[in-house]
Amino acid sequence: MSKRETWATRIGLVFAAAGNAIGLGNLLRFPSKVALYGGGAFIIPYFISFILLGIPLMILEWIIGRYAGSKGHGSMIGIMGEFFNQSYFARIIGSLGVVIPFLIVCYYIYIESWTLGFAFLSFFQKLPTPTGVSDPKLAMMPFLEFYRNYTKPSFYAIFFLIITLSINWYILNRGVIKGIEFTAKIGIPALLLMGIFLSIVSLSINNWKGLEGLYFIFKPDFSKLFDPQVWVEASGQIFFTLSLGMGAIATYASYVKKNEDVLKTGLYTAGLNELVEIVIGASIAIPAAFAIFGASSIPELAKEGTFRIGFMSMPAILMSLPFGSYLSFIWFFLLFIAALTSSLALTQPLIALFEDEMKFSHAKAVNISMTMVSLGAFLSAFVPGFLDDLDFWAGTLFLIIFGFIEILSFVWLFGVDNFYKELNRNVFLKIPKILVYIFYGISLIFIGILFYFWTVIKLPEYFGQLSWNLIISRTFIVASILLLVLIAIESKRRYFNL
Ligand code: TRP
Repeated sequence: MSKRETWATRIGLVFAAAGNAIGLGNLLRFPSKVALYGGGAFIIPYFISFILLGIPLMILEWIIGRYAGSKGHGSMIGIMGEFFNQSYFARIIGSLGVVIPFLIVCYYIYIESWTLGFAFLSFFQKLPTPTGVSDPKLAMMPFLEFYRNYTKPSFYAIFFLIITLSINWYILNRGVIKGIEFTAKIGIPALLLMGIFLSIVSLSINNWKGLEGLYFIFKPDFSKLFDPQVWVEASGQIFFTLSLGMGAIATYASYVKKNEDVLKTGLYTAGLNELVEIVIGASIAIPAAFAIFGASSIPELAKEGTFRIGFMSMPAILMSLPFGSYLSFIWFFLLFIAALTSSLALTQPLIALFEDEMKFSHAKAVNISMTMVSLGAFLSAFVPGFLDDLDFWAGTLFLIIFGFIEILSFVWLFGVDNFYKELNRNVFLKIPKILVYIFYGISLIFIGILFYFWTVIKLPEYFGQLSWNLIISRTFIVASILLLVLIAIESKRRYFNL
């Protein structure tokens, strides 16, 4: 067996993990959810979900990843297997944990390619400038429709998608240390700098009128506390932004050295992600829109979705300022770096599967994985509704289901005593056992309730609206699951020379 790579340095590990979690979720999805669900009304369930779901799951994934990694497994198929006697059943359940990041990266990487495209277009002043239109956002509208045209995607859309796929391919091919860790060590500090700079710019617009936007986000509002929809969305955001419920964190954790303090790294990952989300993520898009379009624009803005805030409102706002094209460039480049370090992390579980379980060479594992991702990315570009449908299933429902499976399996079925022993191995803080019972008990019940509401509220919306496009996306989802289940079974036979 060839030796698995491990992260070269501590700081590199922390940056890579931060890069995994920090992404479009922090800078686009968070502001649009906050706006949609009424600012302060969203924030309370958000923080509660962070404590009750985010932290316990984050720590859990680091622990199981470290354990399974030391035995040579990095994908959820191998990890589940390692914990449960390599039974076929465990490996098949684990395949859900590999299919989720795969399905997400198929559309995530397409959005990533937009950020790169728009960064270039901003820099070379090819985006429409908002002067002379009554509503500056509208200047962007025709351009957006031109860029994202499904029957005939623009040259830019295809060109930048190919470039983005190639960049990911290249970095992943260089491996964990020279590729992912290297990229994160440059990318994360750059991201922090650009993020802080743009926060200051946005908040200071119109004599610091942007600050009112912060007040909107953080003023607690108890009125919607009993609305299950807000809870479902807030906890969904916690899963998505922290990259939880899909084994992607566990894959990164499988590359730590045997004695790494994963409790510390887990807390750093969660902490850095929240810093970027509620300090930088909250300070850019919403405050800027507040200052330019006024308070009333916010709910309407959010209804138009993540894309509109990021690709329509923000460039329109920034380009109305001095040096606007360059500010707009920084905005899109910031998004690109955030997205890149996440798309690497989303693809790595698949690569780990091929390498660890199928015993493919690194290059072969990367080539197969990226070919699959490219196929999904092109479907996202050409099939209307594909992106949203994948986001609905993989980016929301599956996360809740798999998060539930993770807590149930690794804490309760594996045994609290066993889990506790792993939890206390080489960590800076000894957690009392009673806390394990409390936290992982509450989190299990909490997810159970969320799942119930989710199926009651959200699921019905999605039935009865079947079209050809949705048949394509659902076939793709089902086919991906079947493929990974087959690999889970076949790889066991290979692994044990059955
Ligand atoms: N957390 C990422 C973001 O905020 C998105 C994401 C979800 C992700 N799941 C992931 C990234 C798994 C890497 C791995 O944008």
